[in-house]
Amino acid sequence: MDWKDALLNIVTQPSSRLRFEEPLAKHTYFGIGGEAAAYIEISTVSELAALARFHKQWNVPIAVIGRGSNLLVSDTGFKGIGVRLIGELAKLEVDGDVVSVGAGLSLPRLSKTMSRRGLSGVEFALGIPGSVGGALIMNAGAWGSSFGDVVTNVTVMNDAAEMIELTHAEAKFEYRHSGLDTYFCVTGATLRLEPGDVDTITERMQTFYKQKVETQPFAEENAGCMFKNPPGDSAGRLIDISGLKGYRIGGAEVSTVHGNFILNIDNATAADVLNLVAYIQQQVREKTGISLQTEVKRLGFDTKV
Ligand code: EPU
Repeated sequence: MDWKDALLNIVTQPSSRLRFEEPLAKHTYFGIGGEAAAYIEISTVSELAALARFHKQWNVPIAVIGRGSNLLVSDTGFKGIGVRLIGELAKLEVDGDVVSVGAGLSLPRLSKTMSRRGLSGVEFALGIPGSVGGALIMNAGAWGSSFGDVVTNVTVMNDAAEMIELTHAEAKFEYRHSGLDTYFCVTGATLRLEPGDVDTITERMQTFYKQKVETQPFAEENAGCMFKNPPGDSAGRLIDISGLKGYRIGGAEVSTVHGNFILNIDNATAADVLNLVAYIQQQVREKTGISLQTEVKRLGFDTKV
């Protein structure tokens, strides 16, 4: 039996899916990248535990790609298994002001549902197209709020397929970073939100969304902000004053709306994007003395995978 046969035994639920040689471009907002050796949509904790045991036994690389909103996949693809969490792993349960949310749920869905329930704290998230799991690992944020701020506990699965509940402190949230990517998989979180008026919360959420649409590109394929902000400044502003808006390499272009977004405007390759990233870093360093660090996650660039 090879690892592909073994994988067939793991995906057992009717709502779960398994495909081999799956193009990852269609699972990322960038619309870029080659095939994954396999792609799974997994819907139960027990299947996920089986996948962790499979991983230990076969040592095939596994990457939870969430909604692929902050991800650049290599042109040669990923010689491993891309995973998306759905079903039981994307659940949403509300008990008063305590919300239990699965890592597979999308942030916009969470934001909209909470506004309808009159719970405040995630209004900022309507314009962030990622999954809760990705938002936990990246400590995603906008408009002065970060996802980690409302999180009391995080549940993760370790390499031994055990579920562990971490406290807020143990999750080690920082600006666009956490300590959560050391585990096999982040499975969900408990949030404490603030009860409030439905109309006020909805209006706040819509105001943030309007602000996003006015200041950030949304029509073209992109992966959100490409670089982290250096302390006390905006990467977008630095790219802007370095005269790089509209600069293009191959099919990748620096947005003319917001300098920190790279757009796939014409069948860009991952190589186009990385060449543009390197050019931006070099130009911004030359013009401002600041070294920009990327925020977008990469998959498949390691020679082994
Ligand atoms: N600015 C420019 N030119 C540009 C872009 C921005 O001059 O091309 C100026 C703006 O006019 C403003 C300042 O820079 O005075 C800050 O800009 P903005 O409010 O757009 O915020 P940002 O610091 O560039 C951050 C987050 C975004 C988040 C926005 C809104 C990072 C890397 N970026 O951007 O998050 O949506 O604030 O809160 O932290 C992301 O993480 O993917 C992302 C897009």
